[in-house]
This record gives sequence, C-alpha cells and structure tokens, in this order.
Amino acid sequence: SGYVTLDSGYKNTGATKSAITFLDGEEGILRYRGYPIEQLAEKSSFLEVAYLLIYGALPTQSELDNFSHHITMHSLVHEDMRKIFDGFPSSTHPMAILSSLVCALTGFYPKSIDPVQSKEEIDLNIYRLMAKISTIAAWTYKNQMGHPLNYPRNDLDYCSNFLYMMFSFPTEQYKVNPVVARALNKLLILHADHEQNCSTSTVRLVGSSNASLYGSVSAGINALWGPLHGGANQEVIEMLESIQRDGGDTQKFVDKAKDKNDPFRLMGFGHRVYKNFDPRAKIIKVTADEVLKELGVNDPLLTIAQELEQAALTDPYFVERKLYPNVDFYSGIIYKALGIPTQMFTVLFAMGRLPGWIAQWKEMRENKEPIGRPRQIYTGATERDYVEIGNR
Ligand code: CMC
Repeated sequence: SGYVTLDSGYKNTGATKSAITFLDGEEGILRYRGYPIEQLAEKSSFLEVAYLLIYGALPTQSELDNFSHHITMHSLVHEDMRKIFDGFPSSTHPMAILSSLVCALTGFYPKSIDPVQSKEEIDLNIYRLMAKISTIAAWTYKNQMGHPLNYPRNDLDYCSNFLYMMFSFPTEQYKVNPVVARALNKLLILHADHEQNCSTSTVRLVGSSNASLYGSVSAGINALWGPLHGGANQEVIEMLESIQRDGGDTQKFVDKAKDKNDPFRLMGFGHRVYKNFDPRAKIIKVTADEVLKELGVNDPLLTIAQELEQAALTDPYFVERKLYPNVDFYSGIIYKALGIPTQMFTVLFAMGRLPGWIAQWKEMRENKEPIGRPRQIYTGATERDYVEIGNR
C-alpha cells in the first residue's frame, strides 16, 4: 500500500530479529548471547568473546585454540597493501585509511565478493578480517608518524601483538606491559557489540544487498567514525583538554552544553537507548581508576572528567533528559594512559566492534533477510513541466 510510517532516525523501529545482543536501556543491561557484559569483561578474552558473538556459544578450549590459531596465521597483510599506505598523505585520519584498506581486501581475496560462499570460505574471510584489522590498524599509526612498519608476531596474543606493532621500533624492542594488554583486552570486549547501532545497521544494510563482508564492514567503519557515534571517544579527550586549557571550570561547559543556541554538546554523554547508566561506562570508569594507578599515571584530565560528570549528573537539564555518561566518556582516558594517540581512539573502537559487525552480517545472511530498503514521505514539488533553459 502507499501507507508509510515515518520514524526519523529509527527511534522506535525494529529493523531485524537478532539473537546476538540483548540491551535494556531503561535498566542499563547489556548481554552478549545471554552473558552479562560485567562477567565477560572480568573473565573473558577478546577472542573468546569474538567467538561467542560470531558462532553463538562460548568456545571449548580446543575451539578457542583453533580459532586463535587461524587468526594468528592470517595476521600478515599482502605486501602490496604497503603501496596503498604509501599513497595516503600523513595528514589522513587513520579511520579513512582503515576503511579504505578493509575494502581493499576484496582485491586481494576476490572470492570474498561471491554472493554464495561455503561455510569454510566465510570462516576464512572472518579469520582474515579479524587478523588483518589489527595489522592494518597499527600500520595506520606508523604511517602517520612516518615510522617503519612492524610485522605481526605470532608468538604474542591478540592484544599484545597489536601493542607490539604499534609501539616497537627496529632500534628499541617494545616489551609488552601485561597491565596495558589486560586493559586493552577489557576495552575491546566492552566495545564488541551493541545491537542495531548506526554502524551495525550500516553493515547489515550494506550486506543486505549481498555486498561482501569486507565491503560491508568498511562501510560500518565509516559510520562509526562520526562524532555522534564512535568518533565521540576522540572528541571527549579533545573536549577535556580544551576545558583544561580554559582553566578547568567544568560548570561553564555544562552550561554551554545546555545552551540551545550553542551547538556544543557534552561529548560522551547521552545515548539513544540508555536512559540510565551505560553499563559499559560503569566498568570503564572503575577500570580507568585502576589502570592509571597500576601504571602510576597521574592525568589531570581524569579529575576534570570526574568533575564534569558530577556537574552534569546533578544538573536538572541532564537529569530530566536522562543523560548519563556513555561508553566513550572514560575510555579515552584509559587509551591515553596506555599510550594510544588520540586520533587512534576510534580505530580501537572499530577493532573492538569488528566481531559484532561480523556476527551481525553473518546472522543476516543466514536468516536470508531481504534487501534493506526504507521508504520515505515525499515533501517535494508536485508535477510540473520542464522549462527550457533560456526561459528560467
Ligand atoms: N549534551 C547536551 N545535550 C544533549 C546531549 C549532550 N551530549 N545529548 C542529548 N542532549 C539533549 C538534546 O539536545 C535533546 O534535548 P531537547 O529534548 O531539549 O531537544 C535531548 O537531550 C535528547 O537528545 P537527542 O539528540 O534527541 O537524542 P538522540 O537519541 O537523537 O542522540 C546521541 C543520542 C548519543 C547522538 C546524543 O546524546 C549525543 O549527541 N551525545 C554526544 C555524542 C556522544 O557521546 N556519542 C556517543 C554515543 S555512545 C557510543 C557510540 O555510539 O559511540
């Protein structure tokens, strides 16, 4: 029929059934395949969570060993990829390089674009993507710095290998600090899926046309980049730094965020679904405290963030609108303490979210969902006749 229900921004429209992630925004509950995020963050490893999301059950030891082995064995990227890196100016944001190179994988693995693939072929592309995103991500940073690229090391676990590729130099071998690797593991787990958010919906929508896994995830990376979504983690640190430069008056910035004539928003605050504390933010806040203590880092931005949070949480504007800190509010403080440069924060988010994107893409294919094709309510001109250019 011609009847269309309008729901701008899909605030209340379900786009799919899904058995992957449960989220209750009123209660602040998040579970992957039924397992509470708090338990996974405490006890699990990122690859174990990736397996859980993608294949639906916690792996046995041999399933996990097998999965980790395959991912480790695919961590090298084709040497020709380096030429593509060389073509990007050093001013390129790492997210642009990441999305381009993930899409470029279709060129190196042309069978990945076949709409019909066996389970083995799909698994192979999953291993490749899980493995190579870490190498590509670390190389975006090295490229930006003008430093020599590091090749992956198969004797290291997923997080330690990434840190090694980021921070090692031919002149000085980086020794992986287990505190740093553990913190990274936890952050990646906390970011691993979040049901039908903007980037995941993008991955599913693009994939619904039978586009490849690499092409669909590349689109998701671009959706994540925006400051209202994953790009917020970079924006939070930049906001905290500007508050610091301005003298540290957090109330002033809370007032600015309330001013409807000012486009400024409190970055890392508010969420489409959570009308309560974001359970990920709760864990990250405690982790930020722990990690800074363990590493002996004293970052004045942490105090500014705590004061800002307090000022906002007690302000009627934020209380009435149920605006709480989200996952991005404290994550940047941890990344910074781990030595990750600000421009890489959203890349880390993408690495963490990858298993979720893969799981959602795979679920959509397996359920044989139809192509996504929203309707609209037309508000343009009614029919009119063409006017010759000289008569306009
Ligand atoms: N600062 C000030 N006011 C805000 C904020 C904020 N951070 N967030 C929402 N509001 C106000 C907004 O102006 C609106 O007020 P009013 O009812 O008077 O018009 C009300 O709260 C509802 O906001 P909305 O924009 O209609 O809500 P939304 O669901 O469309 O947007 C959001 C959600 C996350 C985009 C938004 O809260 C926001 O812009 N936050 C800052 C960016 C951010 O931290 N993004 C990360 C999201 S979490 C994880 C991720 O995806 O990366």
